[in-house]
Amino acid sequence: YSIVVIHGPNLNMLGQREPETYGVETLDTINQALKALGCQLGIEVTDFQSNSEGAIVTAIHQAFEQKIDGVIINPAAYTHTSVAIKDALLLLHCPVIEVHLSNIYKREAFRHQSMVSDVVTAQITGLGSLGYRLALGALKELMG
Ligand code: DQA
Repeated sequence: YSIVVIHGPNLNMLGQREPETYGVETLDTINQALKALGCQLGIEVTDFQSNSEGAIVTAIHQAFEQKIDGVIINPAAYTHTSVAIKDALLLLHCPVIEVHLSNIYKREAFRHQSMVSDVVTAQITGLGSLGYRLALGALKELMG
C-alpha cells in the first residue's frame, strides 16, 4: 500500500508556531514517525506540505492519478475556507482521513466549520501528532 500525508499552510513552522496549541514537535519529526509506523504496517508513506491552496489541489490530483490507496490531510487554515480542496477530494475513491492537531471545536467559532469534513471518511481532531499515527492505523484497517 501507498499513502500520502498532505500538510497545509504554516504547518512547516510546527515546533516554532504557537507550541501551546500545536505542540513542540517539528513537521519533520511527525513525518519521520509516520514513515516508521508505515514501515511496520507495510505502508509506504509520502509526505507533502504547501502553503499554497493550488499546490495542495495539485497534490490531490496526483494522488488520484497515482491511484493512491489512502490520504491523510490536514488542510490547516484552508480547512475553513477551501471549496477547491473539497472539490479535489471528491475525485478520490480511496479512504481520506482529515487530521487537526488542535481540537477545532474548542477554538474560535470560525474554526468550527470544516469545508472538507462532509467529503472525507473520518476526522481526527485534538490529539496532536498522535492523530496522524491513528489516521495511518485507521487507513491500514480500511484498506484491508
Ligand atoms: C489546524 C487547525 C486550523 O484551524 C489552523 O488554521 C491550523 C492547524 C490544526 O491542525 O489544529 O493551521 O488544522
